[in-house]
Amino acid sequence: MKWSNYFIPTLKETPIGTEAVSHQLLLRAGLVHMLTSGVYSYLPLGLRVLKRIEDIIREEMNAIGANELFLPCLHPIDLWKQTGRDEVLADVMIKFEDNRKRPMCLGPTHEEVITNLVKDFIQSYRQLPVVLYQIQTKFRDELRARFGIVRACEFIMKDAYSFDRDKKGLAKNYDLMYGAYKNVFQRCGLKTVILEADSGAMGGDVSHEFMVPASIGEDTVVSCSACGFQAGASEENAEGKPCPKCKKGNLTAQVAIELGHIFQLGTKYSQAQGAQFLDEDGKQKPIIMGCYGIGVSRVIAAIIEKHNDDKGIIWPRQVAPFDVEILPIQGSKEDKEIKDLTDRYYADLTAQGLEVLVDDREETAGRKFNDADLIGIPVRITIGKRNLAEGKVEIKDRETNEVILAEKGQVKKKVSEMTGSVCRIN
Ligand SMILES: Nc1ncnc2c1ncn2[C@@H]1O[C@H](COP(=O)(O)OP(=O)(O)O)[C@@H](O)[C@H]1O
Ligand SMILES: [Mg+2]
Ligand SMILES: [Zn+2]
Repeated sequence: MKWSNYFIPTLKETPIGTEAVSHQLLLRAGLVHMLTSGVYSYLPLGLRVLKRIEDIIREEMNAIGANELFLPCLHPIDLWKQTGRDEVLADVMIKFEDNRKRPMCLGPTHEEVITNLVKDFIQSYRQLPVVLYQIQTKFRDELRARFGIVRACEFIMKDAYSFDRDKKGLAKNYDLMYGAYKNVFQRCGLKTVILEADSGAMGGDVSHEFMVPASIGEDTVVSCSACGFQAGASEENAEGKPCPKCKKGNLTAQVAIELGHIFQLGTKYSQAQGAQFLDEDGKQKPIIMGCYGIGVSRVIAAIIEKHNDDKGIIWPRQVAPFDVEILPIQGSKEDKEIKDLTDRYYADLTAQGLEVLVDDREETAGRKFNDADLIGIPVRITIGKRNLAEGKVEIKDRETNEVILAEKGQVKKKVSEMTGSVCRIN
């Protein structure tokens, strides 16, 4: 991909009114654009990251036997009345009347819709279990939209739902999801703290939250450095209080971002909506459900919060929008050797399955270096006259800041070592 032909509107200045580093960098690196408070567009570079994260999630969901589908955003309020959640979630629901005067809303979540769908197809225990998921836009009228895409009014969620005939089946699917979530966040370069949580407006008994401690966030986790105990903050579990586990250490508190939330719902929705199945014993029973959410767009913000320096973003390899950036330094007159080498590396690395961005813009070297650090592609190849006079090309690792001078014929080999020969095509 040539930068001159790619829409990456980087900003030199930190946009005003932004408190979170991730919000600043999302805007400065040309990843998102704000339409109005809490509503964002994803620009080409941001969309690439989003797709990478979605791909990781899809792989992990498919690996545990979940099937992807796609549910509507437009919901009739009548459906929500069946569970009473038109009232429970009234504050966040975006409601309106359509031209036929039907009361409608834009889906803030999808338990009611999926239960309604499954009810139409599942009659017998023989058809269970079923696990379904989607990656889709959710709408929540958040009064306090904050930290850019961390708390937005329109955001992308992966939501999954499991349907089982008994509690044992639910527990098994819940464990599979729990494991898949661990993999997803690890593959995104995030260390999570997993907390037993309150199931709140969802209902049900068992629930876990996946938190990433960061310098921003709306939750607080406490930890004990003596024994590693971690929990959500509460009256007993607070900064400076003795550790309830080892009784030796003291707790320290840190704010955290909630990225994922899983629930064992039980029969709350199936009972209210009449989603029953005929069990082996000849009895009609409500289907036992679980629900599982990841804030996909919020994950991008969390990754940036955890992977940045004063110059910009440092993408973990697995989610980077490109694997390699080639930065040719052309003087006032185009140098044929620099151009040929740029084209050759581009062709060779692309053929290896790497995604390559070439900064072919007619900009100063300084501007190109700053932008490269800002958008944070893991590996940068700089081709300039001075090094080339000695047959050398510079390779920089964005994460370690390590710079090596490689023989121009060794670049392909060096880069595949550094990228761990990530192969995107398969
Ligand atoms: N307003 C929002 N903007 C971005 N992501 C959100 C928002 N609300 C929730 N999420 C993401 O969706 C996941 C599942 O949502 P859920 O647990 O239903 O939300 P909440 O914790 O706000 O009740 C959350 O863990 C979070 O990552
Ligand atoms: Mg939650
Ligand atoms: Zn302890």
